[in-house]
Amino acid sequence: MKKGVQWVVEDKKKKQIFWPSEEMKKIAYVNDESFYEEAKKDPIKFWENRAKEGLTWFKEWDTAYESKPPYFKWFVGGKINVSYNCLDRHLKDKKDKVAIHWEPENTEEEARKITYGQLHEQVCKFANALKKLGVKKGDRVAVYLPMIPEVQITLLACARIGAIHGVVFSAFSGESLKDRVENSEAKLIITCDGYTRRGKVIELKKQSDIAASSPSIEHVVIVKREGNEIATTEGKDVWYHEIVENEPAECEPEQMDANDVLFLLYSSGTTGKPKGIIHDTAGYLTQAYWTTKLDFDLHDDDVFWCTADIGWVTGHTYGCYGPLSVGATMVEYEGGPDYPDWGRFWSIVEKFGITVFYTAPTAIRMFKKMGDEWITKHDVSSIRILGTVGEPIDVEAWMWYFNTVGQGRCPVIDTWWQTETGGTLINALPGIGPFIPTVAGRPFPGGTADIYDDRGHPVSGEDTGYLVFKPPFVPGLLRGLWNNEKKFIDTYWSEYGKETYFTADGARWFDDQNIRVTGRVDDVMKVAGHRLSSAEIEDAITSHQDVIESAVVPKPDDIRGQVPIAFVVLKAGVESSEGKEKEIIGQVRKEIGPTAKPHKVYLVKGLPKTRSGKIMRRFLRSMLVNDKLGDATTLQNPEIVDYLKEVVGYKE
Ligand code: WTA
Repeated sequence: MKKGVQWVVEDKKKKQIFWPSEEMKKIAYVNDESFYEEAKKDPIKFWENRAKEGLTWFKEWDTAYESKPPYFKWFVGGKINVSYNCLDRHLKDKKDKVAIHWEPENTEEEARKITYGQLHEQVCKFANALKKLGVKKGDRVAVYLPMIPEVQITLLACARIGAIHGVVFSAFSGESLKDRVENSEAKLIITCDGYTRRGKVIELKKQSDIAASSPSIEHVVIVKREGNEIATTEGKDVWYHEIVENEPAECEPEQMDANDVLFLLYSSGTTGKPKGIIHDTAGYLTQAYWTTKLDFDLHDDDVFWCTADIGWVTGHTYGCYGPLSVGATMVEYEGGPDYPDWGRFWSIVEKFGITVFYTAPTAIRMFKKMGDEWITKHDVSSIRILGTVGEPIDVEAWMWYFNTVGQGRCPVIDTWWQTETGGTLINALPGIGPFIPTVAGRPFPGGTADIYDDRGHPVSGEDTGYLVFKPPFVPGLLRGLWNNEKKFIDTYWSEYGKETYFTADGARWFDDQNIRVTGRVDDVMKVAGHRLSSAEIEDAITSHQDVIESAVVPKPDDIRGQVPIAFVVLKAGVESSEGKEKEIIGQVRKEIGPTAKPHKVYLVKGLPKTRSGKIMRRFLRSMLVNDKLGDATTLQNPEIVDYLKEVVGYKE
C-alpha cells in the first residue's frame, strides 16, 4: 500500500472521519502539532520564521507586522523579488529539473518540457523586452492568455521588473478585458493570436482588440500559438517571438519592497463591476510558498497538477507562484477535460506520473457522472494526495473522489480560501488530518478564524454563522481594492468593524477545531467553480436596449454547483419571444463571456420588490427550488408572486 490514509476510524455525527496512515505521517513535513503550537503562541513570530526559512531576501525586514486597521503590512523594510525566489535561487541545484510539463490540447502535438534553467532564461528575455517597450516598475500589464507556458513566463517577467500584472480569464470577452484595462490603466496587453478549445479555434487577438483601443494601452504583445490569421496595428502590435529573440538571457531582478503590489486580480463582488483585488509581494509569496509546500506536502520528486485556469486565483497561487517558489515540477494543460474524451485528465496523470492532483468539485461531479471507466482505463496509482477547492463539496462527490480517483489511499485535502486570501486558509494537512467529507478542516497555522452570529458574537455547537478572521491577518490577505478604498472598507471591514475580516461565507464548527464552510451569504455565486455575481450579470443584461430591469439568481445544479437564472422585464411594446431570450443570453456572452450566460431566461412582466424598490432576489431564489416563500405582504407588488409562481412552475 502506498503512502495514504487509513480507513474510517470514527463515525461522528454520521460522517466518516479519516486519519493519515503511519506511512503518510512518516513522509509528511508536518506530522505533529508543533507547527500549530508555534503559530498559536506567537503568530507574528511564526510567519517571520516561515518568511526566513522559505524565502530568499535581498534585505530582511525591520518590522514584522504593522497594523493601522483595516490596513496592515508584513515584513516592512524587507527587500525581495518574487521571480528571483521562483527561479534564480533554484539554479544552483535544480537547473535541469523540469519546472513545467506543458500538455497541449491537440493530442498530435508534442508536450513541452521547460527546465528551471530554461524558464529563467525565457523570463529574463521577456523581462528585458518589456523594459524596451517602456514598461517600468509599478506599471500595469494586462495578461489575456490561455494555458500556455508564456503565461507563467509573463507573470514572472512582470514580477522580475516590478510591473503589476492583471490576468483576465481568456474565456472572458474583450469587453470584460476592456473594463479591467481601463480600471487599472494598463500600459500593455499580452495576448495570443488564437488557441483551440475542444478543437475549436478561439480568436483571442480579435477579442483583445476591443480593449486595445483604451487610451492607456501603448502596446499589444502577441504570442503566436494557433497560427490563425490576425489583423495587426503597425507600431502598436508586436510579436512576442520577435521581441524576445535578441534579448540577453540575464536580467537583474528589481529589489522590491515587501509591500509593493505584485498583482491585481479582478473578482466578482456584490456590485456590477468586478473589483481589482490587490496582492502584495512578500506576504503573498510567504503564504503561497508555505501553503503549497505543506497542504500538498510537495517533495522534490513530486509532480504537481493544479487544474485551475490562470485566470483565477487558484491558477496564480498553485499554477505558478506556489509550486515554482518551492522548486517543484508542475503540469500545465491547455485544453478541456473532455477532449478528445473524458479520459484526458487521467491520461495526463498517467503520462507525467502526477503525484498530487488538485481540482474543483464541479470537475469531480462531472467525472463521477461520466463513469468510472474513464479513470480505470488509466494508471492513476502515482497519485498520493488529492485536493479540492472552489465551492463546498458534497459527501457523495468527496467519497467518489476518495474511492475512485484516490483508490481509497489518498487524503482529500479540501482547501477553503478566496481570491482575497491569496492562499489556502482552512484545510487539513496530509500528515495530520482528519479528512472529513464536507468539512474543510482547521485554519492553516498562523491564521485565526472564528464564526460569528449577526451581532458579532462567536457561535458554537451546531449553529451556523459567518466565517471571519482576526488579527494578525495572514500575510496573503488582500491589501486593498484598486482605486476603490471605500468599497474595500464596505465589503470586508464594515460587517464587524475594522479589525475583523468578513469573508461573506457561512460556516459552522464540526467540532472545536474543524470548520465546515457552507457557502456564500451574499449575491456572489459559484458557477462551475467560477466566481460571478448577480449584479454583474444583471448589468450585462440591462445593457440590452430592450430591457428595463432584471434579476439574476443562482439555482442549484448537480454538476455546476450553481447556474444563473435570469428574470427579465422588457420595455413596453417589445414582444417576448424565444428570439429575445437568445439575444439576452448573447448579450451576456458578449459583455462577460460564455461562463456567465444564464441557464434560463424568464421574460416576465415584473419583479418582486420591497416598498423602497429593492428587488427581492431571495423570493426568486426560493421559488426556483420550491422552498417556502415567506411573507409577501411587505412587498410593494404582492400580486406579482402568484404570477411568478406560475411562470416558474412553483410547487408548494
Ligand atoms: C468558495 C477560490 C467551500 C467560498 C479559491 C469562497 C469554498 C469562494 C471552498 C471564493 C471550499 C472556495 N469549501 N467553499 N473548500 N473554496 N470556496 O475567490 O464561497 O474564486 O468565498 O476563490 O469560493 O472564490 P474565489
